[in-house]
Amino acid sequence: MTRVFSGIQPTGDLHIGNHLGAIRNWVRMQHETDAIFCVVDLHSITIPQDPGSVGAASLRLSQMLMAAGLDPQVCTLFVQSHVREHAECAWLMECTVSFGELSRMTQFKEKADRQQFISAGLFTYPALQAADILLYDTDEVPVGADQRQHVEITRDIAERFNSRHGETFVVPAAVIPAAGARVMDLQRPTDKMSKSLDSPKGTVGLLDEPKQIAKKIKSAVTDNDNEVRFDVEAKPGVSNLLSILGAATDRDPESLAADYTQYGPLKVDTAEAVIELLRPLQARFAELEADPAETMRLLRLGADKARQTASVTLARAKTNIGLLEG
Ligand code: TYM
Repeated sequence: MTRVFSGIQPTGDLHIGNHLGAIRNWVRMQHETDAIFCVVDLHSITIPQDPGSVGAASLRLSQMLMAAGLDPQVCTLFVQSHVREHAECAWLMECTVSFGELSRMTQFKEKADRQQFISAGLFTYPALQAADILLYDTDEVPVGADQRQHVEITRDIAERFNSRHGETFVVPAAVIPAAGARVMDLQRPTDKMSKSLDSPKGTVGLLDEPKQIAKKIKSAVTDNDNEVRFDVEAKPGVSNLLSILGAATDRDPESLAADYTQYGPLKVDTAEAVIELLRPLQARFAELEADPAETMRLLRLGADKARQTASVTLARAKTNIGLLEG
């Protein structure tokens, strides 16, 4: 069976970009594949977080993922720091990737530009991500378009490790959805919707109230030529609305454009589709939030399951390098 792995950082509440670009596909894929999903708390501390906040954020994110439809009975869902093999394997990855390769990562450059304190962990972030993926003999990594470069470097690391030390890791492929792979900020439609953009009016949170969602989508930035057409370069705002509506209703954004002659009705339908998409998730989240002990129980089971695979792969990697067995 195809092995699928993906991860998400516990930094701030999720937005519809995370949902349409990644999580929605994870929910589908869990039924067709052997799927493993990880709350990557060690990645989140590459940027300074408020003291004591990461644990609560990991719990909340896990509940959001379950509310979105990840079923811990069907897939494996766990928190990265609960499986220590990730940190250990990351060191092997750091010794397999070069300074030059890490220096070329666009996400590092973007994030470093926004930080006063640039941790070494922020620089070596892709090595930890490679460890996440390679520890599980992963075939497919379902992600939004912004993660393509991280999966590419993971492939390079796996190939280099295999050629140096013999067949050890499966070389994974990124799976990027046709619609929703790059949801843009509603106020700044040339920037991707992002937890770190600090644009509350441009970001639709998964827990936003229906009224708030309608308001944000109604005030989304478009343009003045009043023609509904899918053209990301020339019409980023309108194209973003078409992409969101298309992803939420499983339709192709280009053909959807033909249904509209004005921006008003496009905005109304997009808001309606997003509200309906999120309604069941929001109701389920309220239930899960009330029972943190049950979430913790499920996460511990998930970590136990993950560890079984991760420990075997890590041991294989250490043996193949030729480290002295303990
Ligand atoms: P993160 O936490 O930033 O995002 C989680 C997922 O959401 C997708 N995404 C988007 N998709 C469409 N439009 C957007 N505006 C948008 N914003 C975010 C991301 O592409 C991602 O799939 N480095 C990763 C976490 C990670 C990981 C891994 C992923 C760590 N280890 C191993 C895959 C495999 C990240 O920061 O994702």
